[in-house]
Amino acid sequence: MNLAELNRIANAMVAPGKGILAADESSGTIKKRFDAIKVESTEDNRRDYREMLFRSREAMSKYISGVILYDETIWQKAKDGTPLVKLIEQAGAIPGIKVDEGTQPLPNCPGELITVGLDKLAERLKKYYEQGARFAKWRAVIDIGKGIPSYAAVHTNAHALARYAALCQQAEIVPIVEPEVLMDGDHGIDQCFEVTEFVLKETFQELYYQKVALEGMILKPNMAISGKKAQNRASVEEVAEKTVRLLKGCVPPAVPGIAFLSGGQSDEEATAHLDAMNRIGGLPWKLTFSYGRALQAAPQKAWSGKTENTAAGQQAFTHRAQMNSLASKGEWKADLEKKKAA
Ligand code: 13P
Repeated sequence: MNLAELNRIANAMVAPGKGILAADESSGTIKKRFDAIKVESTEDNRRDYREMLFRSREAMSKYISGVILYDETIWQKAKDGTPLVKLIEQAGAIPGIKVDEGTQPLPNCPGELITVGLDKLAERLKKYYEQGARFAKWRAVIDIGKGIPSYAAVHTNAHALARYAALCQQAEIVPIVEPEVLMDGDHGIDQCFEVTEFVLKETFQELYYQKVALEGMILKPNMAISGKKAQNRASVEEVAEKTVRLLKGCVPPAVPGIAFLSGGQSDEEATAHLDAMNRIGGLPWKLTFSYGRALQAAPQKAWSGKTENTAAGQQAFTHRAQMNSLASKGEWKADLEKKKAA
């Protein structure tokens, strides 16, 4: 393992004012996103849509450090024959790849899931490296509900995350370690805090057992946040204060950066939360974004599958990327959103 190189890439992924574009929707997930804008999910449409994002020169060169790709995309070529990976590199961003193969029900744990994809991962990582990937992503999913999560689900998922991370580092690829506690229920922020604390403690214990170098990884967590269906959802200030407290108690300062998932928050909510955390300041790691939906909902709508909307889609993407860039420095203001709308 070349730790200096892994550390260099990890730092570049969380460079000041930059964050990660999660464009790694599986074919099933991107179909759902396309259904919402009435676009058929064909290979060409998926390519055209992602090509539009990667050709957003301003967003990609100023605000985006890296892009997480889905397997299909890392092999795809733009309309003019340029590999999509090259478009990302030409903009100065780093190509990354989702390597987990989704979730399956976890035996003996009703309602809980385990992320799969470890078999043959070492060989797949080699091919992705040759294709230009310098970081990877693996997402574990933990749900909050009656009697869950169980220790078995938390432990098994943490173990798999650490197995994946160790394999990545062996292949000179920086692992994004993503243990996501879902915000789907009606639970309050304190329950989310407790479950996330449990999940992060277990994850870092497993990373330690499996000798993963913390300097050569990025953590992608959820925030401490109320469930979507909760009554009296916590304020922006409370989310920021509790998330920072939670992470300080669980994430060693050797980790170069933390890049949040948006997890179903609205675009502006995700930006406001990140901004409020960075305003607290005095943090031992970089705090930035690795958003999927919160970066793409606006450009998807603006584009709506029409070539003539390419510029509008790129403008919407650039705006969200810029807002999140400001938030990663604690410099965002709500009225910057209004100016855009005016
Ligand atoms: P969201 O920001 O839409 O949660 O997606 C991020 C991601 O990569 C989930 O795995």
